[in-house]
Amino acid sequence: MYSIAIDGPAGAGKSTIAKAIAEDIGFIYVDTGAMYRAIALYFLRKGIDGHDRKLVAAECPNIHVTLEYDEEGKQQVILNGENVTGYIRKEEVGKMASVTSAVPEVRAALLDLQRDMAKTSDILMDGRDIGTNVLPDASLKIYLTASADVRAKRRYDELKEKGADCDIEQIKTDIIARDKQDMEREIAPLCQAEDAILVDSSDMSIPQVIDTIISEFKKIK
Ligand code: C5P
Repeated sequence: MYSIAIDGPAGAGKSTIAKAIAEDIGFIYVDTGAMYRAIALYFLRKGIDGHDRKLVAAECPNIHVTLEYDEEGKQQVILNGENVTGYIRKEEVGKMASVTSAVPEVRAALLDLQRDMAKTSDILMDGRDIGTNVLPDASLKIYLTASADVRAKRRYDELKEKGADCDIEQIKTDIIARDKQDMEREIAPLCQAEDAILVDSSDMSIPQVIDTIISEFKKIK
């Protein structure tokens, strides 16, 4: 069984890259950020303040997140029996996820499921703590990053294409704030695992990043 861990900051292009690689090499893709987003959605819907750690921890036994895959192999996130895949991509959900994912009980609620998935299939998992915490023995670890300017520009272009009204400076400020929050939390902070390969995609195209990671995988396979 092979496992590939791809970690990195917000907006580094992890999910686009990870999805394409998983399809190419026939692995199951697990987007762990989506699982944290589903939990964040639960708190947003309940109107619970994500900064209230006691309240967040106390709610955790009521939250059950699982993953399913549709006929096309796309990951679906199930929150207490409801498919919430279509509701978790909003910026407010990502921001809330970054707050509530710092609560140990939230992380504990997802850890076993993430680890179990790697026991039964070849998987490519992306997130913030996969190489450092979830799968410390992953066959290949990648730390995928890009400068804050490049990540902000990519996000800006993506939103513009969708017709959204947005401000690149605000996007950059949000990205830097999210990096800080994810890197400075006490539990499973975002950092490059010692044995991870650093891929800085600031000056790379998507196909170049995909090729780089696939060739690293071929070296260890
Ligand atoms: O990658 P994505 O933007 O979907 O992740 C949302 C948030 O979930 C991140 O900012 C981070 O706080 C949290 N997360 C995490 N550990 C992971 C994946 C995501 O803490 N493995």
